[in-house]
Amino acid sequence: MDIHALTKEELPEAQALAASLFPWEDEHQDALVAAVSHGQSGGFLAARGLSEVRAWAAKEEERVIGLLSLYDYGQTPDETWLAWYGVSTEVRGRGLGCQLLDWVIATAKRERKAVLRLWTTVEEEYAVALRLYAQRGFRPELQPALPGEDWETVVLSLGLDGKVPTSWSARSKGIPLCGRIVPAVAA
Ligand SMILES: CC(C)(COP(=O)(O)OP(=O)(O)OC[C@H]1O[C@@H](n2cnc3c(N)ncnc32)[C@H](O)[C@@H]1OP(=O)(O)O)[C@@H](O)C(=O)NCCC(=O)NCCS
Repeated sequence: MDIHALTKEELPEAQALAASLFPWEDEHQDALVAAVSHGQSGGFLAARGLSEVRAWAAKEEERVIGLLSLYDYGQTPDETWLAWYGVSTEVRGRGLGCQLLDWVIATAKRERKAVLRLWTTVEEEYAVALRLYAQRGFRPELQPALPGEDWETVVLSLGLDGKVPTSWSARSKGIPLCGRIVPAVAA
């Protein structure tokens, strides 16, 4: 498996994979465009208080079979958020998901980030991912269910500098929950 920064040429394939992995979300479509636009995606970044969004493609036999993204917020330069992480259904169970996750943890450590965070939900479809995060020491914080949702969001934080990470609840004031759109509720 080859992991490299997502290119413009790979964008349609990566967007299709993201849509199949996360059919209930759509922010990934714009995030991947922003990641390959290198600084010319001011609207996406500014609207979210981001300083940067990056994405990587994992390829086998010329096909994009895995994705990763990191969101960096201007207010918390010592932290980074993992988003849009997954592998296509045909390649699951071969250890590639673990390899990708370990690769992004090593990348964030190399960049001297203190904390890697992500959010997911407690729904069954994310149970495999939740186990991978727990095995690597991510600390979970349950969030209240959002309006109109009857499942809980969980924020996971991993200390990368040998220290216990500051909890998300202590850090979150005024900072958006990475890519998490509060659903509109019918009046
Ligand atoms: C999470 C995900 C990336 C794992 O990828 P993968 O390549 O299948 O995972 P691996 O082959 O590296 O296996 C990792 C572990 O999960 C276990 N596992 C994999 N698929 C499993 C399944 N369907 N049921 C139970 N366990 C499973 C493996 O046995 C392995 O366990 P171990 O580390 O204790 O040996 C993949 O399932 C995925 O893309 N899911 C959809 C998107 C997603 O959930 N992303 C995370 C959003 S928060």
